[in-house]
Amino acid sequence: MIPLTSAALLLSAISPLVKATTHKAKYHPPNAHCVDYTIPVSVSTDILTFNGTKWDDNFGLVDFVSVQSSREDAGFPPSIGAPEPYKGDLEIAGTFCSPIEYGKHGARTVLLATHGLGFERGYWNSAYDPKEYNFVEHAVGEGYSVFFYDRLGTGKSTKLSGFVNQAAIQIPILRELTTLLKSGKYTGDTGKPKSLILVGHSFGSFLSNALLATDPHAADGAILTGYGFTSNGAVSMEAFNPRIAAQQDPKKFGELDAGYVTWSDIYSNVNAFFKAPEYTLAAAKYAEDTKQPFATLEQLSIGALELSAPKFTGPVMIITGEFDFLVCAGYCPGELEEPGKALFKGSRDFEPYVQPGAGHGLALHKNATGGYRVMTEFLQRNEL
Ligand SMILES: *[C@@H]1O[C@H](CO)[C@@H](O)[C@H](O)[C@H]1NC(C)=O
Ligand SMILES: *[C@@H]1O[C@H](CO)[C@@H](O)[C@H](O)[C@H]1NC(C)=O
Repeated sequence: MIPLTSAALLLSAISPLVKATTHKAKYHPPNAHCVDYTIPVSVSTDILTFNGTKWDDNFGLVDFVSVQSSREDAGFPPSIGAPEPYKGDLEIAGTFCSPIEYGKHGARTVLLATHGLGFERGYWNSAYDPKEYNFVEHAVGEGYSVFFYDRLGTGKSTKLSGFVNQAAIQIPILRELTTLLKSGKYTGDTGKPKSLILVGHSFGSFLSNALLATDPHAADGAILTGYGFTSNGAVSMEAFNPRIAAQQDPKKFGELDAGYVTWSDIYSNVNAFFKAPEYTLAAAKYAEDTKQPFATLEQLSIGALELSAPKFTGPVMIITGEFDFLVCAGYCPGELEEPGKALFKGSRDFEPYVQPGAGHGLALHKNATGGYRVMTEFLQRNEL
């Protein structure tokens, strides 16, 4: 593991240009006023390098997966090499939604939502059966504003090589988004928020946690969903049963290089993200139909993150499905309290919560709104 702790997630100046955009979110909740943005972000930082054998077909990919999943005794060379500097001008597509009924003063508390691997910003904003699944609609109904965005490499945001895109590039992007939102940019015409809460799912929770570890003043609170500490990267990678995304669906993913992979089929998707009987086939199909590839190096970069955030004093909730396979090895009760509490030992209110019956993809399980209520009640208890 290569600690990125102070591998200084440096960020250079950002163009103040606010672009009108054609990159629309697919769905806007009826109770919200939403604006779509394309946001220029410049990143300058040290990143991990890919040192495995690159593949251009699925035989090469599955061999990499087998190397990656083998015991160290096999003596395969590490697939992560020495860090090197990275500089890039990137574009992030995002959407800001605020409650219609609050008019211009809607940005009381802004939730900055970062999705996980395999999705784009629509994870928070399901166009499928929104009453049952749409997080933005629920949060807006409770008086919150939500900024949600396509992480680097997904949706309408910039695509980098799947052998380059990684957490170390995305953490400074998230940090820059916190700065921009707090200054009242990209918040429609509602101005500066009273407070800013990081909300993550899975990889998005790792990024949010890692940001608070390096920058404890980035936000006023955090809700980390689909998050836990009993993960085994090798087992997860095998469970994804990855295939080269551009070859699986050239029409959708043809612009991505072979470093971008996606699960082989709906069954691998369900294996990793859902738990029977707490999901419907229609919801699983929706997830598979709208899935996004992930960069191989994104997953590999998780192990290098510094997560200890003792200087962060805001409230933190971790909420994860009872039977989450990816972050709890299939069973979460008892797995969130520690090391969660130790990582956030300065938090004025640390609360682990296990969502009954659910798997990893909380937002597409039957009782998704039950989990959303737990999240917004936590914020309300903390007067946020
Ligand atoms: C990169 O891989 C090569 C073999 O492919 C190995 O010799 C070298 O030690 C690796 N570099 C690092 C930094 O692990
Ligand atoms: C739905 O989720 C809420 C919040 O976790 C929980 O209290 C409730 O029991 C759940 N309902 C069902 C039917 O599982």
